[in-house]
Amino acid sequence: MFKVGIIGAGKIARKMAKTLAAVNDMEVGAIASRSLEKAKAFADECNVKKAYGSYEELVDDADIDLVYIATPHSHHYDQALLTVNASKPVLVEKAFTANAHQAERLLTVAREKGVFITEAIWTRYMPLSLKIKEIVDSGIIGEPHLLTANLCYRVEDVARIVRPELCGGALLDLGVYAINFARMYFGNNVQKTVSNCILGATGMDMQESISLVYSGNKMANLLAGALCQSDRQGIISGTEGYIRVDSINCPRLVEVYRDYVLHAQYYCPEDIITGYEYEVLECKRCIEAGLLESPLMPHKETVSVMRQMDALRKEWGVRYPMDEE
Ligand SMILES: NC(=O)c1ccc[n+]([C@@H]2O[C@H](COP(=O)([O-])OP(=O)(O)OC[C@H]3O[C@@H](n4cnc5c(N)ncnc54)[C@H](OP(=O)(O)O)[C@@H]3O)[C@@H](O)[C@H]2O)c1
Repeated sequence: MFKVGIIGAGKIARKMAKTLAAVNDMEVGAIASRSLEKAKAFADECNVKKAYGSYEELVDDADIDLVYIATPHSHHYDQALLTVNASKPVLVEKAFTANAHQAERLLTVAREKGVFITEAIWTRYMPLSLKIKEIVDSGIIGEPHLLTANLCYRVEDVARIVRPELCGGALLDLGVYAINFARMYFGNNVQKTVSNCILGATGMDMQESISLVYSGNKMANLLAGALCQSDRQGIISGTEGYIRVDSINCPRLVEVYRDYVLHAQYYCPEDIITGYEYEVLECKRCIEAGLLESPLMPHKETVSVMRQMDALRKEWGVRYPMDEE
């Protein structure tokens, strides 16, 4: 049994626990919360054997093979560092840290300690995401020139979106998916960035548009926001056709059009549980292979995403307390 320990008994932690309950040879070995009562309630609900009232106890549990950090972005750095210092492999929710500086420091310690660490940006590990790359590279839509992606949810009242000390804003929560979508299919040879942002009452970015120009006459237009719903689609347009992805944060259907006519459809695997399983399966594979990072989301890519988001926040004047460090 591959045993995952979860830090933070919140929303995404519940989704992960319910997902792993359906994966062969895997289980949530322990849940850790700042409150033992909360951990016990989580353990009862999700059928987890061990409940800890502190994060420290979980990272010291010798039975745990991987620690999954499911707390707000603001706390990822400290908790991942705690885990790495205990020599435990770690999967850190997106956004990886508050800023690139924290990401670099954390990854340096992990490398020095020889501990596996990766970012839980689940789209990077999904079979259908990898298929999209294959489709683009096959040339079926000709030369790609334009990419559009959007991700909006109405979450403007959620504490971790509005509070600077929790690293609020739409960018680190939702925009990060659009940025990753663009990077997966257009790379990162960005020559020019133009963006626009609506700030909320607490100074956090509530809605944004990001336009990226790449070499080779490529452009990506990305939208993210916490104020409204959106269709969540991603479209990659080429000289001979285009690819429509139904949802950039959980692709289930990909359609390929040639000369404006539907040419092919691709679906996520039939045995998908929620999609959260793929990132954990990849962690298991990497740990068993003795790797310190996943080739699906290399450390330098994680840092580069954080740098890109740092630059956007700087332009918008969105500051976190840990940016001062
Ligand atoms: N991959 C995805 O699809 C996806 C979806 C949603 C969220 N996420 C990511 O997952 C992370 C958590 O999101 P969530 O929606 O699960 O958040 P949440 O429901 O608010 O849960 C966060 C948990 O973090 C812990 N925590 C520790 N310090 C905290 C603090 N100072 N304030 C608030 N909570 C604190 C709490 O657990 P205890 O009280 O038990 O210690 C809390 O339950 C974020 O980084 C987010 O971006 C990913």
